Amino acid sequence: MAPVPISPINVGHIDDVQELRKSGPATIPERFVRDMTERPTLDTAPPSPNTVPVIDFSRLVKGNKEEHKSEMLELTRACEEWGFFQVINHGIDLGLLKSIEKVAKDFFMLPLGEKQKHQMLPGTVQGYGQAFVFSEDQKLDWCNMLALGLEPHFIRVPQLWPTEPVKFSETVEIYSGEVRKLCQHLLEYIAMTLNLRADFFEEMFGVAVQAIRMNYYPPCARPDLVLGLSPHSDGSALTVLQQGKGSPGGLQILKDSKWVPVQPVPNAFVINIGDTLEVLTNGKYKSVEHRAVTDREKDRLSIVTFYAPSYETELGPIPELVDENNPCKYRTYNHGEYSKHYVTSKLQGKKTLEFAKVESKIATS
Ligand code: OGA
Ligand code: NI
Repeated sequence: MAPVPISPINVGHIDDVQELRKSGPATIPERFVRDMTERPTLDTAPPSPNTVPVIDFSRLVKGNKEEHKSEMLELTRACEEWGFFQVINHGIDLGLLKSIEKVAKDFFMLPLGEKQKHQMLPGTVQGYGQAFVFSEDQKLDWCNMLALGLEPHFIRVPQLWPTEPVKFSETVEIYSGEVRKLCQHLLEYIAMTLNLRADFFEEMFGVAVQAIRMNYYPPCARPDLVLGLSPHSDGSALTVLQQGKGSPGGLQILKDSKWVPVQPVPNAFVINIGDTLEVLTNGKYKSVEHRAVTDREKDRLSIVTFYAPSYETELGPIPELVDENNPCKYRTYNHGEYSKHYVTSKLQGKKTLEFAKVESKIATS
């Protein structure tokens, strides 16, 4: 989420999906209609029992020996096989989850003109609007976003922070502080599943970069034609996603070449491994491709936190995780450069990670 200087680009006219929904509920402009191969199949079959693992955080922290051990095994399995898990009993006050949802929803419900005071400029990724649009012919997501860099403070762009609702900034600060601690704790346990020192990542990451993105998906009359959010993997180390209470499902992950829905679990966070941890673990833990689909009748809100190393960090596979059976898959690179590459590329599956592949053809200068 670094504020990177970008040469002028032409992204064409971008309709605001909430306004579209208001003025012509059944109108889907061509730019939102996906090519056949990208359209979601809206599965009406009952959810598969094979679903994203659920980790009871309280058992990790204060469970007895047995509970702790079995939860650590489940965490290892989640990171190895899924790259995604849901965390329950995470210890963050449920009132705070409610408050962040309220300020986010209240912001998205403001008149367009109000929201546009904090407009995301073409080619940038902070503010209100659609991120990752770089050309006029690129398909658009059925989503409005409000994205803000949080830590370290120099990535903040104060004029992009809403002044309404009045509690917005205060709530974001408190929420983000709590989620930051959760990320730090989760990374300690993840380090331990890899037989690394608990503080391994903390030490390596320095002052970690943190950003928040609120995604608002209005209902869509033709959910079979559009995507809420294009398939992508996250550039972070860890991502923490809160699904709005009462929101329908919509997040799907690519598992064994099939899109699997992540069923909302009340008061849980959905956690996923980002590209950074995939590189550090030499691919042992995968940054899994995911996307969001829309609902015909209901709107959906998600609040997403990205937690990543400081931009100065040099990253590459951890030597302990490279051996003759697991040859080195990724080169060593600077995380700031990776971030810049990530935010200047459109969301396209796991394409951005090619930057880090050993045989990468992408120039880094
Ligand atoms: C994201 C993301 C999914 C969702 O913001 O990176 O994957 O369900 N969001 O909103
Ligand atoms: Ni994502």
